[in-house]
Amino acid sequence: MNITVIGTGYVGLVSGICYAELGHRVVCVDKDRAKVETLQNGGIPIYEPGLQELSVKNSAAGRLRYTVDLREAVEQSEIVIIAVGTPSLPNGEANLSYIDQAAIEIAQAMNGHKIIAVKSTVPVGTNERVGNLIRSRTTERFDSISLPEFLREGSAVQDTMHPDRIVIGADSESAAELLVQLHRPLTEHIVVTDIRSAEMLKYASNAFLATKISFINEIANICEKVGADVTLVAEGMGYDKRIGHAFLKAGIGYGGSCFPKDTRALIQIAGHVDYEFKLLRAVVEVNQDQRMSVIRKLESIFDGELQGKTIAVWGLAFKPNTDDVRESPALEIIQYLIRSGAHVKAYDPIAMRNFRSIYGDNGVMWCDDALEAATGADALCLLTEWDEFVHADLKLLQSILRKPILIDGRNAFKEADLAETSFVYYSIGRPRLNQGVKEEMSALID
Ligand code: UDX
Repeated sequence: MNITVIGTGYVGLVSGICYAELGHRVVCVDKDRAKVETLQNGGIPIYEPGLQELSVKNSAAGRLRYTVDLREAVEQSEIVIIAVGTPSLPNGEANLSYIDQAAIEIAQAMNGHKIIAVKSTVPVGTNERVGNLIRSRTTERFDSISLPEFLREGSAVQDTMHPDRIVIGADSESAAELLVQLHRPLTEHIVVTDIRSAEMLKYASNAFLATKISFINEIANICEKVGADVTLVAEGMGYDKRIGHAFLKAGIGYGGSCFPKDTRALIQIAGHVDYEFKLLRAVVEVNQDQRMSVIRKLESIFDGELQGKTIAVWGLAFKPNTDDVRESPALEIIQYLIRSGAHVKAYDPIAMRNFRSIYGDNGVMWCDDALEAATGADALCLLTEWDEFVHADLKLLQSILRKPILIDGRNAFKEADLAETSFVYYSIGRPRLNQGVKEEMSALID
């Protein structure tokens, strides 16, 4: 099939490259000329394992092209996929201006029947809005499809090539059938729905996963008070097939380009139809508060006084294996530390450049490696569970920190890792593993 994908962000780029990998002829379109040139030259503007190799391979095979020329791409394609960004507006609603613009430009380029699929996460009713924008500008026929995307950053290629399910929201049987054919090699679980249900399904899925995370984070907070270990609680819960183990890892809360944005958007969507989504509001609030759990622990150790303390931060990305720092808990945690007068030494293996471009330098000392960040610090906070942090030599780490205080915001270290050390250690919801009694701590604190 001939496919155009508009937007080379995470979703668009990964989808376009993977459709080419399936043997289709794909043109990826973006307005950003520099980005397109990078892609044409074999580069990839995002950090995503395995993606660059697939891009180079499929470009060389003549199945994949990158261009800024939307008209030419659309003219040659029977399927046009919109995968542009839908960032949050200040009130939490999704900003649809990029979607609208894509729709208008597609309409202007229509030269025959097309299937227009929306892969961006969009509020219920957006596919109709796209249809209306196109219909009012062209007499050419087209079918609308809602084609939500469920890939995760860091495992985007794997998730796209081996998805749990494909959802196709369609208003015409023939278009649905063509899209089923397109995705049949990927999975047998293809759910065909009406368009509005597909749009809702995407938000509901992300909101549910975010709810699981906030739920286990609240259980973790209670575990800390009653002396239970949340990792054991989650493990036992997860064996119940109705619950499952996934997304029950307690920590400093979810971040990234999807969960924060989509939960806020769904609250707004509900609000527009006079429904208050109370549960989801609480999920968002719990997540916001959870980011401060690292700070609360530091403050309790240092008797509320962070002024003048040197705090090492390991991890800036919102999760490992990505350079994405959007809505990363590290942003607020570092901001708070700096406002409290602490000196921050930070390191992330991949995301440092992105973090600096959003955050600026604002008093943070950026380090070349993990040990440099930890050297001479009064405490170390682990905020992203990159492998290199999880497998750090804790004895060496203890020797280079000024005070052996370790706050593990991701429950990355195990009891056995800590056994040979004398860290003052705090994680999330695991009081059993906390090491360092108040007296020892007092001795450590100036
Ligand atoms: C998510 C969805 O998983 C994906 O289906 C959707 O298409 C886009 O949003 P992504 O944002 O890439 O994907 O990351 P994901 O791996 O889901 O993690 C999201 C956040 O939740 C991260 O900050 C992660 O650290 C956090 N998380 C995840 C937890 O705190 N605990 C968990 O158990 C799982």
